[in-house]
Amino acid sequence: MTTTTSAFDATQIEATAERLASAHPSDIIAEALSHFGNLTISFSGAEDVVLVDFAAREARKLNRSFSVFSLDTGRLHPETLEFIERVREHYDIPIEAYSPQADAVEALVREKGLFSFRTDGHGECCGIRKVEPLGRALASVDAYITGQRRDQSPGTRAEIPVVQLDPGFGRADRPLVKFNPLANWTSAQVWQQIMAYGVPYNPLHDQGFKSIGCAPCTRATHPGEHERAGRWWWEEATQKECGLHAINLGNPGDLEQ
Ligand code: ADX
Ligand code: SF4
Repeated sequence: MTTTTSAFDATQIEATAERLASAHPSDIIAEALSHFGNLTISFSGAEDVVLVDFAAREARKLNRSFSVFSLDTGRLHPETLEFIERVREHYDIPIEAYSPQADAVEALVREKGLFSFRTDGHGECCGIRKVEPLGRALASVDAYITGQRRDQSPGTRAEIPVVQLDPGFGRADRPLVKFNPLANWTSAQVWQQIMAYGVPYNPLHDQGFKSIGCAPCTRATHPGEHERAGRWWWEEATQKECGLHAINLGNPGDLEQ
């Protein structure tokens, strides 16, 4: 079993993505664990908790390790913070919390107030509260796992592969590999998994929240409404990426959009 830090180059990524295109998420995570000794999971505190559950099982089987981090934007629901803590206790794993730079938040609030995203768009606030901390979270790893799914956002995520190179957060001398093991799964499959295996979940989901981000930018959705309608609902649907996954918009270098 390899533990190399440069297991995949661009050609290998394509071949691996093709080979794993229809693989079960746990097999994709097993592959990621086998290749990378410093793999991390980007955990939002929503239904992507299945990633942690899969990784915990696979890591035990393979005798491998992984880390988990959450971006604590300062605007998460209290329920989400409690849930992240519950996951930490339930799986007995550390969860690193990355906070935004205090001086950047203070400058933004001083200049534009606490809700600038309502009038200016969410790019600036997300850039400070999510994207910059994500860069720090990924600075010392060679691969990470996200809970992105194609069905989450037809406008921006319909094409995401199960594994890709991340040119936005990677470095020229050290490519960064991004695994999206749930890419092909539907929301219904994720929830079947959560229920079948007794995976802990965020109580906001029982209050009609399908997709969960920061409190002021997330709302419950009506039955039949697409989950993305609960995020930045005042903005145009095709731009509902906050920069964490700017690669989905085809402009990975432009993280402030
Ligand atoms: S977002 O870009 O619109 O905010 P979304 O909520 O759909 O992302 O979540 C997709 C994936 O992005 C999550 O499964 C997770 O991997 C990552 N992610 C989103 N928000 C966070 C967060 N606060 N902390 C860590 N990872 C996150
Ligand atoms: Fe700011 Fe909203 Fe983005 Fe959270 S989701 S960082 S509150 S704009």
